[in-house]
Amino acid sequence: MSNDTLTVTDNRTGQTYELPIRDGTINAIDLRKIKTSPNDFGLMSYDPSFLNTASCRSSITYIDGDKGILRYRGYPIEQLAEKSTFLEVAYLILYGELPNRQQLDQWVFDITHHTMVHENVRIFLDGFRYDAHPMGILISTVAALSTFYPEARNVFDTASVELQTRRLVAKMPTIAAYAYRHAMGLPYVYPDNDLSYTGNFLNMMFKMTELKYKPNPVLERALDVLFILHADHEQNCSTSTMRIVGSSLSDPYVSVAAAAAALYGPRHGGANEAVLRMLMEIGHVKNVPDFIASVKRQERRLMGFGHRVYKNFDPRGVIIKQIAHEVFAVTGRNPLLDIALELERIALDDEYFISRKLYPNVDFYSGIIYQALGLPTTMFTVMFAIPRTVGWLAQWREMLADPEQKIARPRQIYTGVMQRDYVPLEARG
Ligand code: ACO
Repeated sequence: MSNDTLTVTDNRTGQTYELPIRDGTINAIDLRKIKTSPNDFGLMSYDPSFLNTASCRSSITYIDGDKGILRYRGYPIEQLAEKSTFLEVAYLILYGELPNRQQLDQWVFDITHHTMVHENVRIFLDGFRYDAHPMGILISTVAALSTFYPEARNVFDTASVELQTRRLVAKMPTIAAYAYRHAMGLPYVYPDNDLSYTGNFLNMMFKMTELKYKPNPVLERALDVLFILHADHEQNCSTSTMRIVGSSLSDPYVSVAAAAAALYGPRHGGANEAVLRMLMEIGHVKNVPDFIASVKRQERRLMGFGHRVYKNFDPRGVIIKQIAHEVFAVTGRNPLLDIALELERIALDDEYFISRKLYPNVDFYSGIIYQALGLPTTMFTVMFAIPRTVGWLAQWREMLADPEQKIARPRQIYTGVMQRDYVPLEARG
């Protein structure tokens, strides 16, 4: 008998089964052999919220939640944040290797030259109400791009996939900035090809009447690092959504829109917005102990704390805390930082948080930085969606190339009434 197997005895029948173990995993489909009779459907595994189910093989992002490790294509996030740029990391995530000089130059050129959106998109954006949430605008507008590029539905056409990949990476900042300008009642600013990816984003967000916008290099670099940290995070809620929607062979625009919709919620990418609202509600350092007490009574959650995967520390949170100080050296100290530091100090020393392994996640400090950059809270999740588009696309491309993947379709355990006859309206009580 091979050592790499699991022997299971079904006590209902007394029968024993040997299931292969590969990569520390058994194939759920192997459980179907375990039956009480030939007519039995076979055993299934029940895993609500996918706590212990691998849904794919992936070579993009490695996480060891207990050790606080995050690597893209094998490169530690700390090295990439210190030495790389967002567009270089985007290439790495999408194509598996760091680009050489010529590849990088071509890639940056391509992205830079796809940043403009069709003028009809601008007109379409005007239809949103002045107070529309920018995530709602971003999600709908990305989905609408599907109608501008109908060839995108040819998801097995390599040239088309490459083109749509470039378009999406390039246009997300433009749509995001337009959503912001719309809310502010400001004229839209066209992309400036002289600027970097993040420099141009700041230009499209904040340019006023000056002839040429000059991004502050510290803020431009800080944003670039934030984008690197948010570029991918393996099979989280939004990425799984991208794969699930993409598995029906929908085009990448509507799939990214669906992934962005999943990101929107406060338990995922919406947490950075929720952190800021929480900090503003606390209002002063002196109110922190009362707030922590209400969290411990489980009346509310400490937003920006806890993670499904990281149970010691979130390595992105450590880098972000450092960036916060660099940004505040330029913008002036955000008073909410003191409340955040005090919350972190108390929580990291408190049995409730220690025993549940709750630590600051990537969103705990990102919101304070975005606020210091002059962004309204409603833009925070948008700031997450821009770089994560790279991860969504890489995972989508990997899924399409994986012969083991089919249309995603989980099973259920039916708990409803098995069968009953229709009752006419007059006969119902
Ligand atoms: N504040 C207070 N208590 C918490 C928190 C929190 N932020 N997070 C978890 N807990 C508690 C739960 O109440 C639970 O306690 P119990 O065992 O006494 O019932 C225990 O810790 C385990 O919590 P779960 O919800 O089972 O943990 P899960 O892994 O499902 O949740 C999640 C992870 C959703 C991130 C959660 O920690 C949370 O809601 N955090 C706040 C929101 C947040 O910051 N989200 C951003 C995540 S990072 C990202 O998406 C980029």
